[in-house]
Amino acid sequence: MNLILLGPPGAGKGTQAKSLETIYGISQISTGDMLRAEVAAGSPVGLEAKAIMQSGGLVPDEILIRMLASRLQADDCKHGFILDGFPRTVVQAGALDELLRAQGKTLDAVVELKVDEAVLVGRISGRFACASCNAGYHDTAKPPKTEGVCDTCGGTEFTRRADDNAETVQARLAAYNRQTAPLLPYYAAHGILATVDGMAAPEAVLTAIRQILDAKAPKAMVD
Ligand code: AP5
Repeated sequence: MNLILLGPPGAGKGTQAKSLETIYGISQISTGDMLRAEVAAGSPVGLEAKAIMQSGGLVPDEILIRMLASRLQADDCKHGFILDGFPRTVVQAGALDELLRAQGKTLDAVVELKVDEAVLVGRISGRFACASCNAGYHDTAKPPKTEGVCDTCGGTEFTRRADDNAETVQARLAAYNRQTAPLLPYYAAHGILATVDGMAAPEAVLTAIRQILDAKAPKAMVD
């Protein structure tokens, strides 16, 4: 199963990708996470990407295409992948088509998570993650069961992303509307676009995505 999750910042792509990874035994490829790792490592890519990400703009296509080309070769992508954050431009979508064609692979589905802009801002500004295991939380919608302690690993340190502030969120939304939303008609024309109500609770969103995917490949690995 090869899948793209498409949607604006805060739509729930990362949240759903993590659940889908376990259910279908396929790998999440988050270009945002890959770039944040480059920034943390202080690599040449990280140094170039850091200021762009903090301003809410998009990192140049050629960097992302190079990163993705190498990531798709990894062993854990053999059984499928969930693209979370790629493609984000029409140029990236064209490059993905080429990369998949060269590997004899196809896309099974592109799932759009549709969420009102006012809700997105609230979701992003309340988001934080465990510094040890990266489990995701939200100040009001999903706090840890015990305040200050990660449900997953018991860690007590948490982090917030540098680009999760009100000003940058507006720039990220503008970049989505200008550069990424044109991918919706692109994939609709390919007959593989499905839209899910991303305003529903995470479990309901997951059920809706599973219905779409299971109609294409009836067997999930885990129920
Ligand atoms: P990236 O890391 O991809 O960020 P994003 O697309 O802005 O998406 P987010 O991670 O903010 O949101 P999400 O949809 O994953 O939502 P989440 O599940 O976390 O990119 C960051 C930057 O990197 C970009 O701005 C750009 O500069 C650069 N970049 C990355 N890829 C690039 C590319 N291909 N080309 C160029 N540049 C690139 O959920 C958000 C919050 O909401 C959480 O707190 C969660 O708990 C909560 N939540 C989730 N679902 C629900 C729900 N159904 N109901 C209630 N709350 C929910």
